[in-house]
Amino acid sequence: MSTKITINNNGSIRVEGEFEIFDMEGKKFDLNGRSMISFCRCGCSNNKPFCDGAHKSCGFMSTIEARTLPPIPQK
Ligand code: FES
Repeated sequence: MSTKITINNNGSIRVEGEFEIFDMEGKKFDLNGRSMISFCRCGCSNNKPFCDGAHKSCGFMSTIEARTLPPIPQK
């Protein structure tokens, strides 16, 4: 199974499939069996890094459309 990441308009980043989440110390989050999680993209969540729905009341606006990224710079 692969991992699907969806950038929601005016909201979170949803990750679903097989994934693991770690903090900066390398400690793994215990997701209690979840195969889908939403990360906060607006900065308003009281449960960072996860979305708690606060984007709806904090006025976050960001519409995203898939696009081709520029080539990776060569060193
Ligand atoms: S994206 Fe939902 S609370 Fe920030």
